[in-house]
Amino acid sequence: MKDARKAVCVIGWPIAHSRSPLIHNYWIKQYGIDAEYRREAVPPKQFEDFVQNLRALDYIGANVTVPHKEAALALSVPDDRARAVGAANTLWYHEGTLRSTNSDVEGFLANLDATTPGWDRGLESAIVLGAGGAARGVVYALVTREVQRIYVINRTAERAEALKTKFGTRVRVAGWDETTGLMGGAGLLVNTTPLGMEGHPPLDINLRCPASLVVADIVYDPLDTRLLQVARERGLRTADGLGMLLHQAVRGFELWFGVRPEVTPELRALVEADLGKTAEVVQPIAPEDHPAIKKAMARRSKRNKKQG
Ligand code: ATR
Repeated sequence: MKDARKAVCVIGWPIAHSRSPLIHNYWIKQYGIDAEYRREAVPPKQFEDFVQNLRALDYIGANVTVPHKEAALALSVPDDRARAVGAANTLWYHEGTLRSTNSDVEGFLANLDATTPGWDRGLESAIVLGAGGAARGVVYALVTREVQRIYVINRTAERAEALKTKFGTRVRVAGWDETTGLMGGAGLLVNTTPLGMEGHPPLDINLRCPASLVVADIVYDPLDTRLLQVARERGLRTADGLGMLLHQAVRGFELWFGVRPEVTPELRALVEADLGKTAEVVQPIAPEDHPAIKKAMARRSKRNKKQG
């Protein structure tokens, strides 16, 4: 008997913006797998019900995004990564049990390994801007690579302190005004805040640093953030947010379909084009360019001519 077509989804609220279907359906086609990856808009109140019925809904697994990552952790058996970060974004079944991981940890590291090879060789000190959910994943990732000192800089100092409590003495809390000073001895700077993202204030820091500093930004809209532009102008090596997004998708695909997919330049170009398309759609249309308004104006000028 032929196996049934497999289905996986990404669950979020809202979910329309998610690029995960584009990435996974590209790989599904590329590797000739009989499967489909869908979007599921699930409000917080219905999330538990949805996850508990995931298998009954014919899904073999799922990605989970905002605002459900903490709830997903509580409803599954997490691995070390998800437990350490306190959030899960990938669900799969193992011998009938719903398991979870946090693939952002792997995505962050794999992107740096691919785009800035050797970045962690002898790396003693790193600077992490922000102390939210994304920062937890980044700090945990740096702990696993045995970075000795991880300076967490955050607007709200208590959240940075909470990361220190969670991950131990490798984490040090510093203030924004210390950023440039710390860069002298650091090998890596990571922005995990939304600063520099479309619709958010810019990230204003002075990149006075040695040429060996690697700069990573998790923001991918815009793709080329001001932070990355300035870093490149200064000759620094950079890793962008889109690379992390693509690399974090690898683990889920491997868990669901048993194939470890490749992040290719073609896939990257596909998602880049899609990011560009959204930006165009979001652009407000000038009133005179709107088709209905154009028609009305043409009608009026015809009438005027007749009257004239
Ligand atoms: P995520 O899960 O994406 O990390 P989050 O948990 O809301 O989202 O965390 C966002 C991070 O960006 C936080 O560190 C936040 O700082 P606070 O802890 O002080 O809120 C930081 N951030 C967001 N907007 C910021 C701003 N305008 N200036 C400085 N930091 C900002």
